[in-house]
Amino acid sequence: MTEERGVLYGLGVGPGDPELLTLKAARILNSVDIVYAAASTKNSYSLAVGIARPHIPDLTPVEMLHFPMSKDIEEKEAAWRSHAERLIGDVRDGKRVAFITLGDSMTYSTYGYVLKMIKRIAPEVPVISVPGITSYQAAAASLNDPLVEGEESMLLLSGAQGGDHLRAMATKPDTVVFLKAYRNTGDIIDALEESGRIEGSAGVSRCSLPEEEITHDIREFADRKPAYWTLIVSKKRS
Ligand SMILES: C[S@@+](CC[C@H](N)C(=O)[O-])C[C@H]1O[C@@H](n2cnc3c(N)ncnc32)[C@H](O)[C@@H]1O
Repeated sequence: MTEERGVLYGLGVGPGDPELLTLKAARILNSVDIVYAAASTKNSYSLAVGIARPHIPDLTPVEMLHFPMSKDIEEKEAAWRSHAERLIGDVRDGKRVAFITLGDSMTYSTYGYVLKMIKRIAPEVPVISVPGITSYQAAAASLNDPLVEGEESMLLLSGAQGGDHLRAMATKPDTVVFLKAYRNTGDIIDALEESGRIEGSAGVSRCSLPEEEITHDIREFADRKPAYWTLIVSKKRS
């Protein structure tokens, strides 16, 4: 056993286009002993694995960790703990381990929950987090529209519960980005209309992938539920 060399890398692999994976992530993927990726219990396909695959040697095992899409916090915590324990076990066995995640590892990522659990139960375990290009950075590039300039500010929100996070803001920033804009899209549209910024809003689905789709009038989402891989960028228009 080679205990000293065990380490966990939390790798962001970018939004989809394999060329948007960093050189650092590619080098690490090429050198680790095992790769883990998140899968929901409903869907075992991981887009992150597809992106990372060309950089993972054929003999390196790739394991899926199932994260329940549940509202039950105890069920979720049990999954985070059990995955954290598995990763900790591998690192203590001297393995170099990668946990890959779509986009950036530090932005609305399952890795974040596991990382917090590892810090809580085994703070001595070496962990190196490696950032990735986020979905909304890639979306801004696809839209050819800068996210923020000069003195502008930006708000990054989860749209999973709809538009209330935006409504709660007394002062609205220049740019608002909703990730997880697939479920309560109708309420997100209402919130953007209420704050007078629907005209400056665009939806980007499967950004940076060959199936990328840009929706310039996001009111269309009211009749056609967007894909899970959808975000909304909303710019204040003067
Ligand atoms: C759990 S969050 C993960 C965010 C990711 N860690 C990042 O840095 O972009 C999942 C949400 O990210 C957004 N997303 C991720 N990849 C995307 C893509 N290629 N195109 C559009 N939206 C994407 C969608 O809003 C999706 O519902």
